[in-house]
Amino acid sequence: MIDLQKSVAVVTGAASGIGLASTRRLFSEGAQLVIIDKNTDALAKVASEYKAVPISGDVGLLSTWSAVREAVVKLNKPLGVLHLNAGIAPNPGDIDSISYEEYDKVISTNINGVFYGVKELLTELSKGASVLGESCVVVTASMASLIGFSLSPVYCLTKHAVAGLVRSLEQPFKAKSIRINALCPSFVDTPLLGDQAKYAISQLGFEMLAPEEIAEALMFCLRNDISGQCVICQVGLPPIIYQYRGVPGPHGEFTQ
Ligand code: NAI
Repeated sequence: MIDLQKSVAVVTGAASGIGLASTRRLFSEGAQLVIIDKNTDALAKVASEYKAVPISGDVGLLSTWSAVREAVVKLNKPLGVLHLNAGIAPNPGDIDSISYEEYDKVISTNINGVFYGVKELLTELSKGASVLGESCVVVTASMASLIGFSLSPVYCLTKHAVAGLVRSLEQPFKAKSIRINALCPSFVDTPLLGDQAKYAISQLGFEMLAPEEIAEALMFCLRNDISGQCVICQVGLPPIIYQYRGVPGPHGEFTQ
């Protein structure tokens, strides 16, 4: 595993929920953090608590990523961990009600915010891997990366998209000693869900995960030599690597 005490770790969406738990965990493991969030005030508080470099901005804008890259370079320490976690769920999420403006916002945050992060920090991740032995990208995807979610098709679209990116980058990243994996949690008790959704979830008899459990799944990705995987986080279970069934090739054989 990467020596986190020698690493810079970048976390997006660090001011709340899963990103905050991840920041706390990586800090406790000794990493120097660069944290990103669009909520400037909350981000400043987290940054002062965890001695992190705050970058206030929208992950769906390339200008934010230029600032992140500059901050990482300035620290003069290898980049070991990139946790691309910021995400939003549209409300309302159903296809009848969602506006194109909201659609664009969700695509920008949940897809561009991941793709830009990987692409803009690729050089730093490669340099980090050459010093640390490897570097790791972890994307917070969702259970909605693996199943259909009729309540929020656009959210589901974005989460399938990032799972596809993670699976596709396994091989190209191998040569650079970069591992990339996706966390696929079921419901997590964070502000993203809102009180109404939380009530509905409890009425349906579902339990929610704590954000700290997702931070633990992040550590699972850092500790284990896996790449291109979707890691399921489900209540009462340890992190589980999702097994895709594969598709038939031209002669009927199954491929992943
Ligand atoms: P949260 O709402 O508690 O935290 C998200 C953070 O991201 C907030 O601080 C917010 O200001 C920030 N953010 C949102 N859009 C941004 C943008 N464009 N640029 C910069 N910062 C931005 O939500 P939570 O639950 O911690 O979500 C984190 C990730 O986990 C998301 O990608 C979400 O889709 C995913 N997820 C959440 C689940 C849940 O039930 N809460 C379940 C499965 C996945």
